[in-house]
Amino acid sequence: MNFQLSEEQIAVQMAARDFARTELLPGVIERDDQAKFPKEQIQKLGELGFMGMMVDPKYGGSGMDSISYVLAMEEISKVDASCSVCMSVNNSLVCWGLETYGNEDQKQKYLTRLATGQSIGAFLLSEPEAGSDATSQRTTAEDCGDYYLLNGTKNWITNGSSADYYLVIAQTYPEKKHHGINAFIVEKAWAGVTVGAKENKMGIRGSDTHSIMFQDVKVPKENRIGDDGFGFTFAMKTLAGGRIGIASQALGIASGAYELSLKYSKERKAFGTEIMNHQAIAFKLADMATAIEGARLMCLKAAWTKDQGQDYTLSASMAKLYASEIAQWVTSEAVQIHGGYGYVKEFHVERLMRDAKITQIYEGTTEVQKIVISRTVLKG
Ligand code: CAA
Repeated sequence: MNFQLSEEQIAVQMAARDFARTELLPGVIERDDQAKFPKEQIQKLGELGFMGMMVDPKYGGSGMDSISYVLAMEEISKVDASCSVCMSVNNSLVCWGLETYGNEDQKQKYLTRLATGQSIGAFLLSEPEAGSDATSQRTTAEDCGDYYLLNGTKNWITNGSSADYYLVIAQTYPEKKHHGINAFIVEKAWAGVTVGAKENKMGIRGSDTHSIMFQDVKVPKENRIGDDGFGFTFAMKTLAGGRIGIASQALGIASGAYELSLKYSKERKAFGTEIMNHQAIAFKLADMATAIEGARLMCLKAAWTKDQGQDYTLSASMAKLYASEIAQWVTSEAVQIHGGYGYVKEFHVERLMRDAKITQIYEGTTEVQKIVISRTVLKG
């Protein structure tokens, strides 16, 4: 077993760290305050190759491994989780889904733009009445010969307004339940597609989360991904990789809060000494560092498993479950260490605490991860 990162992986980590400090940090409080999407920053991330990190260079991607992706996600998320969720959805749900299950024409037409960051993608599974219960899709895709007619509403869609292309999960044969579900590439510009108002969220306020409505949208047959009825498997397979991305986001939020707390406790004095010299603070930092290291190892293990071509469903869910739980706790401890300063925006940790919460909800709640994990471990 080798825990040593390669030179290339370290270079990716450093590049992401540098980008986060120079390009993301300066405006992050204002973007959060104004719920402003980090458009220019995402464009630059695309130019640096961070929007299609694992995609084959022949489709415009960076051809990196999943370990590099985890490292980059952690660094970007330390500073701006609104930016990193856009990056995560584009990389692990949209690009990976298209590269793995799309046909050559779909890759040439869509993946080449998504992997370079020229276009952004979104993944449309959740519905008003189908969140965790993903098999209960109400959006319909009626087979009309040369095209499908798409009708329905999707909720909580990350990149909802900034995306050009949507991967949409919809029901074609309701009587077949999840075996009748299909996945499609839908262009936002097509007639009948409407983007709802931006959600006013507690955290990741800069990310653009919307409902998307479809009314008699004609989707050409060639835009279906995979065989007829493959859509639910497509969604589940793609989400497993997405969970590595969100686990890494949670890890980054936690490590960002920890680093700020460490710095603060070396500067802030109370009772005649820097607060790090009080065991009450030192022990908190020790516990935070330990939990973060555990989450980091789980994220890297899940990524390594994926890179080995092995089934990573379990390790991805475990990493997401654990990293999101510790992100909640670590960020709360970070606010506590900062005292009153932790409760105001200038010190960043209150934002990280708000941002941490969503990692227990999207791409499968904590409870969904426990369903996935328990079903696997109970078989053992
Ligand atoms: N890979 C392949 N197939 C899978 C699979 C996987 N990982 N997991 C399940 N399946 C298959 C099963 O084998 C089964 O197929 P068969 O009937 O042929 O055997 C089928 O899918 C249904 O599986 P279950 O019976 O296990 O389904 P279930 O209804 O009991 O629930 C679940 C499964 C794990 C709860 C699933 O519904 C789930 O993951 N829900 C959460 C959905 C989710 O993560 N949503 C996030 C939205 S995307 C998002 O948040 C992006 C964003 O914008 C940030």
